[in-house]
Amino acid sequence: MKQRSIGTIQVSAIGLGGMPMSIEGRPDTDRSVRTVHAALDAGVTLIDTADAYHLHADEVGHNESLIAQALAGWGGDTSDVLVATKGGHLRPGDGSWTIDGSPAHLREAVEGSLKRLGVDAIGLYQFHRPDPKVPYADSVGTLRELLDAGKIRMAGISNATVEQIRQAQEILGGRLVSVQNQYSPAFRSSAEELRLCDELGIAFLPWSPLGGITKAGELGTRFAAFGEVAQAHGVSPQQVTLAWMLARSPHIIPIPGASRPESITDSAQASELTLTDAELRELDAA
Ligand SMILES: NC(=O)c1ccc[n+]([C@@H]2O[C@H](COP(=O)([O-])OP(=O)(O)OC[C@H]3O[C@@H](n4cnc5c(N)ncnc54)[C@H](OP(=O)(O)O)[C@@H]3O)[C@@H](O)[C@H]2O)c1
Repeated sequence: MKQRSIGTIQVSAIGLGGMPMSIEGRPDTDRSVRTVHAALDAGVTLIDTADAYHLHADEVGHNESLIAQALAGWGGDTSDVLVATKGGHLRPGDGSWTIDGSPAHLREAVEGSLKRLGVDAIGLYQFHRPDPKVPYADSVGTLRELLDAGKIRMAGISNATVEQIRQAQEILGGRLVSVQNQYSPAFRSSAEELRLCDELGIAFLPWSPLGGITKAGELGTRFAAFGEVAQAHGVSPQQVTLAWMLARSPHIIPIPGASRPESITDSAQASELTLTDAELRELDAA
């Protein structure tokens, strides 16, 4: 597996997104654990989660607990695995996603994540989504506080605009290491934020890189060019999509979600798939 950087840490070029294992349509725990183990077997050393990846109101952090359980039960050395979690979103249990970016909530949320992940400090903590009711500087200022207190080792933001990335970088005194925004063949409007990450030399983690849980399977038909290139290489359109992203920038680290071992095993192979310049141009234009 090729490696990329988040801050000073090296991680696999393809990460694992944990969300499908904990929200609507999630599998049983056994299949989820096997999925995480398949990722680790394939050399994945970045796992993205959030305290809000759960279904019912009384199971906040379902996904964090699941990942901690799977890591503990793998049997190999997991000391080089970076678990990246997030705070600032909530799920009251009625299917909705709400937001609380207040310093008080973030401070409390971090304590919960630390406990569930069973660590003294969180490897990468990301502010999940700007809260219109709270000044952005207050939310990101809390990340700075958590960094200074040693509760989190690295800080990232998610769903951020170009202005917010610049603001966060300033508030954190140059310690912003990652931006996680939506980016896929269907959703390319984060190109500006990606360009800024390249300029600043920080990691860009595309979320829903395959178009999201319900659309990922249709990639090759919704975007025919991805299907055609996949056929030419004898691989899946999902692998082609991830390889295309990797080729676009050395700072991109896709985090495809999975709820089946086969999905992440296949996605992980994108790290070794090389597309020609002509193919990349075709996919850019698709
Ligand atoms: N920051 C944010 O606001 C935000 C928002 C959304 C998501 N995220 C993060 O981003 C991650 C990825 O996004 P996502 O899970 O929404 O969508 P996604 O990665 O675009 O799609 C996930 C789905 O793709 C399928 N899949 C994965 N690899 C495949 C392959 N090689 N071949 C065929 N199907 C494949 C999986 O199917 P199976 O389930 O059958 O394995 C999975 O359900 C999430 O898990 C989460 O960690 C963050």
